[in-house]
Amino acid sequence: MTDVTSAGQLIPAPRATEGLGEGTLTLGADTTLWAADGTGTTERWLRATLGAAFGLPLRPGPQDAPGAVRLLLDDTLDAEAYRLTAGPDGGVEIRGGAAAGVFWGAQTLRQLLGPDAFRRAPVRPGTRPVLAHGTVEDAPRFRWRGLMLDVARHFMPKDGVLRYLDLMAAHKLNVFHFHLTDDQGWRVEIRKYPRLTGTGSWRARTKFGHRASPLWEEKPHGGFYTQDDIREIVAYAAQRHITVVPEIDVPGHSQAAIAAYPELGNTDVVDTTTLSVWDSWGISPNVLAPTDTTLRFYEGVFEEVLELFPGEFVHVGGDECLKDQWRSSPAAQERIRELGLKDEDGLQAWFIGHFDRWLSARGRRLIGWDEILEGGLAPGAAVSSWRGYAGGVAAARAGHDVVMCPEQQVYLDHRQDAGADEPVPIGYVRTLEDVYRFEPVPGELTPEEARHVLGTQANVWTEVMEDAARVDYQAFPRLAAFAEVAWSALPAPAERDFAGFERRMTAHYARLDALGVAYRPPSGPRPWQRRPGVLGRPIEGPPPNR
Ligand code: ACM
Repeated sequence: MTDVTSAGQLIPAPRATEGLGEGTLTLGADTTLWAADGTGTTERWLRATLGAAFGLPLRPGPQDAPGAVRLLLDDTLDAEAYRLTAGPDGGVEIRGGAAAGVFWGAQTLRQLLGPDAFRRAPVRPGTRPVLAHGTVEDAPRFRWRGLMLDVARHFMPKDGVLRYLDLMAAHKLNVFHFHLTDDQGWRVEIRKYPRLTGTGSWRARTKFGHRASPLWEEKPHGGFYTQDDIREIVAYAAQRHITVVPEIDVPGHSQAAIAAYPELGNTDVVDTTTLSVWDSWGISPNVLAPTDTTLRFYEGVFEEVLELFPGEFVHVGGDECLKDQWRSSPAAQERIRELGLKDEDGLQAWFIGHFDRWLSARGRRLIGWDEILEGGLAPGAAVSSWRGYAGGVAAARAGHDVVMCPEQQVYLDHRQDAGADEPVPIGYVRTLEDVYRFEPVPGELTPEEARHVLGTQANVWTEVMEDAARVDYQAFPRLAAFAEVAWSALPAPAERDFAGFERRMTAHYARLDALGVAYRPPSGPRPWQRRPGVLGRPIEGPPPNR
């Protein structure tokens, strides 16, 4: 079998393809669909997407119906691996190692059928989708292929989140890291503490643009997901073989929670009753007080979070906790003495360690940003390495699992071009090619240590993305390059065929058009995507600069 990644213009590139382009079959009104037990909801997904796109019923039929689409399991394959065969008998067979593999195979089938397969309804009624004969053999490189979406800085209504889960599935991404809380908003209903959303989900106004912008959006911004919304999101993700990892950020990035429940803050150094949900960007100095009250409160929060999110991992943030209030707070200093800690960093480690044990006792695993390494972690805890590779290297060497998401490479809020038209003029310039050449596994790890790299994740922080169209612009097309890094067996960065990827992107842009994704065109922003000069001069260089 040859490694013909250009055949079928597939993104992410599959392991191997054979015979594509040497004969065709056509799906029509009489094409039936047969699914073996255990293949999950892919049968329904195919009817809902391909069926709708081409106006085909894809009626259930017997396994041996001529020309049928057949979904089945094959225990010689890994769970997420699949083999797709478009055969001369006129049918299509997708074999997956498990239901997930069948689903990823169905994503490939959709791409093979051309851009119209990504529409919601037929645009050219009567057109029948045609498929080249051949075989695709495929399996992912990493088991964690993630996207983090910050819905705290700007709220994305539920339908927008469901749409992003569909976009993830189309790119074979399988972990949705849901950044639900921050200084600027609390976005998940917690029944025990109604003010978290009652007060904490709205702010009176918003800094428009980056931190140094002179502009304000003088209107309230907010919103939150009810527990029913969350259950719907988690179920929708599960049908697409995507796990949702909720993030409740502690002990920093917590001003919205403190605005709602002032007793959570360092009340001996600030009058927390005067705090509101933050309206600007950066890192708030208002952090949680290291008290038993705070621990009990957040145990109450996490109890409900565990009911809502069945996945193995729960993200507790742990990033960018400013220690100034703890340094000046007599109560925090007393806590340091009582616990026999060295300093404020010890207090942060104590705080995270508490929830590490608390989650482990409930059969879950804690994951946090790489700052959580600083105080030692329980054996099962994992790390999101964001400040570069170093955190990931240290975590893997200490025996912790790690997800590589270095801000220098895969923070998609950073601009993709140095041009003055770039509507989000912050951070490093990170082009499509830069993302394509990102290598998640640090070169200095031994093979044994490298086994701790669960995978990789692209992070979308939304300070400067006030709606879904802005998120689309920042995420795409770079998320397509990222998906290939996460899924495909690419060579070392310098040897990657970026020109070949760009050629396949021509087909992929047509798919994104059919999906209604407001991506950044290769020639630069469209007129309506520009925001020239309005946000002030671009901010250059390394964060924190959002
Ligand atoms: C982060 O970017 N503060 C994780």
